[in-house]
Amino acid sequence: MKKDFVVTPWEVKGDIDYDKLIKEFGTQAIDDKLLERIKKHTKEIHYMLRRNIFFSHRDMNWLLDEYEKKNKFFLYTGRSPSGNIHLGHLVPWIFTKWLQDKFDVELWFQFPDEEKFLFKDNLTLDDTQYYFKENAYDVIALGFNQKKTHFLVDTIHANLMYKEAIKVAKKITFSTTKAAFGFTNDMNIGAIFYTSMQTVPAFLPSVIAKKNIPCLIPMGFDQDPHFRVSRDVITKLGYYKPAALHCRFLPALSGPMKMSASEESTAIYTTDSPEVVENKIKKYAFSGGRETIKEHRKKGGNPDIDISYQWLTFLEEDDKKLQNIYHDYKSGALLTSELKQILINKINGFLKEHQKKREKAKKQLDKYMFKNR
Ligand code: TRP
Repeated sequence: MKKDFVVTPWEVKGDIDYDKLIKEFGTQAIDDKLLERIKKHTKEIHYMLRRNIFFSHRDMNWLLDEYEKKNKFFLYTGRSPSGNIHLGHLVPWIFTKWLQDKFDVELWFQFPDEEKFLFKDNLTLDDTQYYFKENAYDVIALGFNQKKTHFLVDTIHANLMYKEAIKVAKKITFSTTKAAFGFTNDMNIGAIFYTSMQTVPAFLPSVIAKKNIPCLIPMGFDQDPHFRVSRDVITKLGYYKPAALHCRFLPALSGPMKMSASEESTAIYTTDSPEVVENKIKKYAFSGGRETIKEHRKKGGNPDIDISYQWLTFLEEDDKKLQNIYHDYKSGALLTSELKQILINKINGFLKEHQKKREKAKKQLDKYMFKNR
């Protein structure tokens, strides 16, 4: 059967059928029962869970069993530096911060600065190391608890990580990576090895603490193939299989595809000025509105395909506000230009604060770097 979408760690394109992906990847849908169970501990349910933006998981019930037995987990997520941060990147991190606060747990944040160097022809190691810092400022700006957050940078923490990575690598064959990632014989051998480096932070805290600690990895769904491969390996090394939470992708401004950092017009960067944000949304945001104002008033717009509305479901926390926007757009009371203005204000309000915090973050980076004492 031909599919009209692709989801791998290196390529996401097309109109993604998430239900199909759950079956294909062998994960579980997040259901109401699990939400209730999470709520017992967090007291509230984050809007990204309520709205099914985080929609899939592995082993969350096991993780909560352990948590309820006072066996606390740590969080692990990451970012492969390759360019500036856009709003789509922030989605899993905003949620990760909420998890850190609610469960009061440690977060290990990996910056594999070799990944995109190995996988892309047009990036030097200097480039990715430059972007590591640029990207780290955005992560810090989100307000992660500095005492409980540890940055791991593959080329900086190589001494610590390599020892563990080779244990992983020894248990993964070339044919396994071929099957999981579609690698072909012309792939460079650094790229083939890479998945072992991404596996390490899922158990490194256990190595350091000299005891087995459960791990929870919040991530974009495209990252799951790495952990599908490494979950088995991690148990063979004597550690717990990491649990996972998966989120959907923020669609591109211009249509239903994932937002791509390499296409200017489809993404809004955290460093964009208010004018740039306004222009991009006015010019590119795909609209579910009608041809003319008259027709729009009469027949109403279609929020389900309208990208400004879709973006607000990722960014506007207030359910009531969102519902009103949905109904007003559908009835024709709200015009496309007005809907776009709501989104522009929302993003510019957020970025104004974020950019201030991002400036401050430049002095804080060292405090977030993991130091093995
Ligand atoms: N490979 C991810 C990227 O392309 C970065 C990453 C490293 C990551 N470790 C992770 C993402 C763990 C999610 C969870 O950005």
